[in-house]
Amino acid sequence: MLLAASTQRTIGLVILAIVFIGGLVYIYFNIRSARDELGSEIELAANRRPYMDDDELETKRLDLALGSSLVLLTITAITLPLYWLGEPGRHEGRDVDTDRIFTNRGEEIYLEGAQCVACHGSEGSGGSVSTAITTESGEFVAQVSWKAPALNTLLSRFTEDEVIHTLNFGRNGVMPAWGAGGGGPLTDQQLEEVVYYIRSIQIDEDQINTEVANGIREGVETKLRAESDAEWAIALREVNEAKDATARDVTLASRDTFGFDCTEQGDDPRCIADNEAAQVLLATEAEHAGALEAAVESWLADVDAVRQSAWDAALADNPALDNEGNEEDWRFAALELLSTPGEVEGQELYLEYGEILFTNTAAAGSYSCARCHTYGWSFDATGPYSLELHGTDQPILDEYTQGGGFFGPNLRGGTELEQFETAASHADFITRGQTIGATYGRGGSGGNGQMPGFGPATDSSPVGPTIGNSDEFSYPALLTDEQIDAIVAFERNL
Ligand code: HEC
Ligand code: HEC
Repeated sequence: MLLAASTQRTIGLVILAIVFIGGLVYIYFNIRSARDELGSEIELAANRRPYMDDDELETKRLDLALGSSLVLLTITAITLPLYWLGEPGRHEGRDVDTDRIFTNRGEEIYLEGAQCVACHGSEGSGGSVSTAITTESGEFVAQVSWKAPALNTLLSRFTEDEVIHTLNFGRNGVMPAWGAGGGGPLTDQQLEEVVYYIRSIQIDEDQINTEVANGIREGVETKLRAESDAEWAIALREVNEAKDATARDVTLASRDTFGFDCTEQGDDPRCIADNEAAQVLLATEAEHAGALEAAVESWLADVDAVRQSAWDAALADNPALDNEGNEEDWRFAALELLSTPGEVEGQELYLEYGEILFTNTAAAGSYSCARCHTYGWSFDATGPYSLELHGTDQPILDEYTQGGGFFGPNLRGGTELEQFETAASHADFITRGQTIGATYGRGGSGGNGQMPGFGPATDSSPVGPTIGNSDEFSYPALLTDEQIDAIVAFERNL
C-alpha cells in the first residue's frame, strides 16, 4: 500500500513539475517571439491592398475566448496533479471507512444476526453451549455443556482463510455451519465482516500470558488437591467429600418429594446438614488457602529445576552449546533429553507439567490441545453428572484417553515419534501449526489447516476488500517456547 501511495504521489509530483517547467519555457519563448520580426514588411507592396489591421481583427470576443481557455487550461493542468497527490489519502480514508463499516456490521452479526456471543462469550472471551450427546446411531446419552473456545486469540491460531473454512462448515456438530458453502445462512461477505470484528477484539501478548499462567496454576492446584499427601490437602479433600455427600442427600430428597427445595424447607435435617457442611468447607478453604498457594509455587519451582538440569546436562554433553548463536541447538538438545525416559531425573514431573498445558482450561480451553485431541474433554465427560441437569447420574467416561484422538488425530503409542524424527521438528510443527495444503513430518497430510499454530503468527493475505490488505497482520504467540517444549515432551511419551 505504501508503495502504491508513493507511486501515485510521485506521478502527481512529476506531472506538476512538468506543468510548471513547461509553463516557464512557454513564457520564455513567448517573450522572445514578441520582439519585432527581422525583415518584416515595412511598407505594403504596390500590388497589395491593405487588409483589416490587427486591432480590427482581434475583437474583444477573441480575447475573451483565448483568455478563458488559458484559465481553464491552467486549472486543468494544476488540479490534475493535485488530484493525484491526494489519491493515497483518499485510499486510506476509504480503508478506514471500510474497516469501520465491516467491523460494525461484523459486530452486529456476532451479537444479533448469528448470536455467536451466546456460545463464545462477550468480545469472544470464550463460553459454552448446552448440547445433547448421542451415540453414533443417534440414541441420547447425556445433556452436556460443551466448551466454545475464546475467539479473542483466534487469529494467533489460524489464518483468516482457515477461519473462513471453519465458519463455512462448522465443527463437530456443535459449532453450526454458518457460510453458504456449508449450507448456512451467512453470505461470503458477511463471513468477512465477522472476521473484521474478530480482528478488532484480539487481545495482546500480556493478557495471553496472564490467561495461560492462570490456567497452569489452576491445573496444578487441581492436581495437588487430588493427589497431595500434605495435611492441608487431606483436610480439604475431607470437607469437600462431606459437602458432596450432604448435597447428594438434598438432591435425592428433591427427587423423592416433588417441589422439595432447601430455600423453603430450611429446617429439614438434610438441609441443615448441607448448610453446615458448606460453612465448614468455606472456613477450611480459607484456612488452607495460603498452604495451597505455596504448594503450587513450590511445584512449579520443582518443574523449573528439572528443566534447568536438562539444560545443564545438554551443555555437559556438548560445551559448544553456550556459544553465541547456539541458543536454539541448546534448547533442542535439552528437549531431546527431557523427551527421553531415563535421561533426566524428575522427567515424570516435567511430563505432568506438559499434561497440565495440554489440558489448560483457561479461556474455555482455547490454549489446550485436549479439546481437539482427547475425546470428551470439551464436554467434561468424566465430570459429576446429575439426572436433573444431564439426564443421567453416570459420567460418560471413567477417565480420558489423553491425546487418544478426536477432531485431531491420535497422538498415543509412539505415533509422534514416528511422525516427527526429532523433538525439534515436533516443536516446530506445534509452533507453526498446519497450513492449508502443506504436508508436515514424515507423512502428515496437507489438510485444511485445522491444527492451530501456537507460536507467533503472521497473516499475509487477510480477507476483505480493504485496499490496505496487502499489509501483513501479526499476532502474538499463545504459548512460549518453554511451554511448547513441555507439551512436546509429554506427547512424545504418550
Ligand atoms: C451454538 C453455539 C455456537 C454458536 C452460535 C457459534 N459457535 Fe463457534 N463454536 C462453538 C463450539 C462449541 C466450538 C468448538 C467446537 C469443538 O470443540 O470442536 C466452536 C468453534 C468455533 C471456531 C473454531 C475456533 C478454534 O479455535 O478452534 C470458530 C472460529 C468459531 N466457532 C466462530 C464462531 C463465530 C464467528 C460464530 C458466529 C457467526 C460462532 N462461532 C457461533 C459453538 C458455537
Ligand atoms: C482446533 C483443534 C486442534 C487443537 C486445539 C490442537 N490440534 Fe493438533 N491437530 C489438529 C488437527 C485437525 C490435526 C491434523 C492436521 C492434518 O493432518 O491436517 C492435528 C495434528 C497434530 C499433530 C500431528 C499428528 C500426526 O501424527 O500427524 C500433533 C503432534 C498435534 N496436532 C499436536 C497438538 C498440540 C501439542 C496441541 C496443543 C498445543 C494441539 N495439537 C492442538 C487439531 C488441533
